[in-house]
Amino acid sequence: MATTDRNRRLLLAERPSGMVNADTVRLVEEDVPDHGPDGALVRVRYLSIDPTIRTWMNDARGYVPPIAIGEVVRGGGIGEVVATTSARYAVGDLVFGMTGWQDYAVINAAAGAMQVIPPGIDPLAALSVFGVTGMTAYFGLLDVGKVAEGDTVVVSGAAGATGSVVGQLAKIKGAATVVGLAGTDEKCAWLVEDLGFDAAVNYRTQNVATSLREQCPGGIDVYFDNVGGDILDICLGQLAQKGRIVLCGAISTYNDSGPVKGPGNYRNLIVVRGRMEGFLIFDYFDRFPEAQMAMASWVAEGRIKHSEHVVEGLEQAPAALNLLFTGGNTGKVIVAVE
Ligand SMILES: NC(=O)c1ccc[n+]([C@@H]2O[C@H](COP(=O)([O-])OP(=O)(O)OC[C@H]3O[C@@H](n4cnc5c(N)ncnc54)[C@H](OP(=O)(O)O)[C@@H]3O)[C@@H](O)[C@H]2O)c1
Repeated sequence: MATTDRNRRLLLAERPSGMVNADTVRLVEEDVPDHGPDGALVRVRYLSIDPTIRTWMNDARGYVPPIAIGEVVRGGGIGEVVATTSARYAVGDLVFGMTGWQDYAVINAAAGAMQVIPPGIDPLAALSVFGVTGMTAYFGLLDVGKVAEGDTVVVSGAAGATGSVVGQLAKIKGAATVVGLAGTDEKCAWLVEDLGFDAAVNYRTQNVATSLREQCPGGIDVYFDNVGGDILDICLGQLAQKGRIVLCGAISTYNDSGPVKGPGNYRNLIVVRGRMEGFLIFDYFDRFPEAQMAMASWVAEGRIKHSEHVVEGLEQAPAALNLLFTGGNTGKVIVAVE
């Protein structure tokens, strides 16, 4: 492609200890890459900022290899095809895939495919309610949590991208009581007044164990865990008979180094014949269309509301990542690259 443009890239410069800081990434400018034969060049428009990116920065074994030092920070995003030699992509297509924290990404045999977003879909919604976090809420609650009518459901990280959808889905599926845990009174008010949660608890200022006992007197049927740590332990201790815990994420531990403390109340699973199960959304890719169709109707009917927290500028991506850990976001964190 003939261009005078440059490709700004954020490379992992050193492994963070705690939150990412100015030394974690290094900005470089390189030539715009060549997409080669049977490939496409993608101008990255939006980055999906996900807590798991922080875990990929650690030199630790996970479900994917760590990001190497000197490698572009790995992450999902949406871009526009600006040049193509592949019959699968047309110039102007919006595509979703692992773009990385950079201005340009390539799609070719080595880099892997990207998914074309149907025309008319808002790219911000494509990254939130129709994207990985919306799908995580859907399959985590329905497939793993097996939410049923009349259930009492508790979700942590409730005002975030995943948690806010979980609570609304639980109501749609007939849950009798849905309680969200969030870190500010404003978020708690949003959950109850705008999203239809039955109650919300500010875990920073209220006693979580006491508040949940008041809100869930018969125990918790489904706890959707986004945070791990002490809140997971409290919910384990308050599980109802045959209760289910959906292990979605453990954001309270992602900045820690060293061993993670285990939940002391796990033996309650034996008492209540309960189940605690982890899952990864990558196992559900084939079933995304089914969930996206369902989600599209609920969004159109106003039964699912979604919120995006957009941060401007590629160079702000590390600060945007930190918002997830300080609770500076309501809904999905997205970086608008330009
Ligand atoms: N299993 C999977 O395949 C999968 C896929 C996607 C996401 N996830 C996981 O799902 C969780 C939510 O991800 P997301 O992208 O939707 O992020 P998010 O919920 O939009 O943002 C994270 C939220 O976590 C809360 N938080 C941060 N530190 C906390 C702490 N120490 N204790 C309690 N709450 C804390 C913050 O809100 P407050 O103001 O309320 O503190 C923050 O807004 C993460 O754990 C992520 O790793 C898993």
